[in-house]
Amino acid sequence: MMPRLGINIDHVATLRQARGEGYPSVVEAADVSLRAGADQITIHLREDRRHIQDMDVDAVRLVTMKYGKPLNLEMGCNEEITDIACATGPEWVCLVPENRQERTTEGGLDLISDENFERVKATCERLQAEGIKISLFLESDLETLKRAALLKPKAIEIHTGEYARKFTAGEDISNFIEDYKVARDFLVSEKIGCHAGHGLSIESVMPLVENKLFEEYNIGHWIVCRAVFDGLGNVIKRFKEIFDQG
Ligand code: PXP
Repeated sequence: MMPRLGINIDHVATLRQARGEGYPSVVEAADVSLRAGADQITIHLREDRRHIQDMDVDAVRLVTMKYGKPLNLEMGCNEEITDIACATGPEWVCLVPENRQERTTEGGLDLISDENFERVKATCERLQAEGIKISLFLESDLETLKRAALLKPKAIEIHTGEYARKFTAGEDISNFIEDYKVARDFLVSEKIGCHAGHGLSIESVMPLVENKLFEEYNIGHWIVCRAVFDGLGNVIKRFKEIFDQG
């Protein structure tokens, strides 16, 4: 089966927040992504609101509903954000660890510590009671995956950041592929969906797709970066046309 592509549009909001203007619009980003064939929109409402803002969540939700596609809301285990998730009712919530100092999500949830496990469990229970499907952002180690299965998530999203960095540096990635196969087989046996995300590019996603490792990929930063160069020349030509016309 063809894997699903979720587009993370956080960094469209990053550009907007950098100038404090109303553009670029995350609504337009969601609309363009879904019109181009994306299967889902992913946004991360962080505690520090560094990119996506509260009002973006409802606005993007309206776009995904218009297209009949899922909204995947990434969030930390935080009560205030859980309230927003319950009020918005996205199809999916992906729970991630959040640390105020980090530049981006740096790894999967720690489910080995009992304290963290209980915190994640409480958040899962609140969201699941609202009918929201849960995915947990995790490393691919089996011990963590087995703990995660106790929380009855609909999916696990495997953190691919380290893999993607090694792939891009031209290093050997065969151990990641082997780990991901073991993780996938475990998740299939538990009837839990197997998703992937973080740091992926059009090149680094290829071995994962060829090996049929994941049902869903959530990709953002690289797509927004690539879109700059796929669009820059066209925008400049439009300015020059206007100048030429006098
Ligand atoms: N999946 C999760 C759980 C994430 O936290 C992120 C980053 O917000 C992504 C996917 C997308 O990662 P990237 O922007 O590096 O493609």
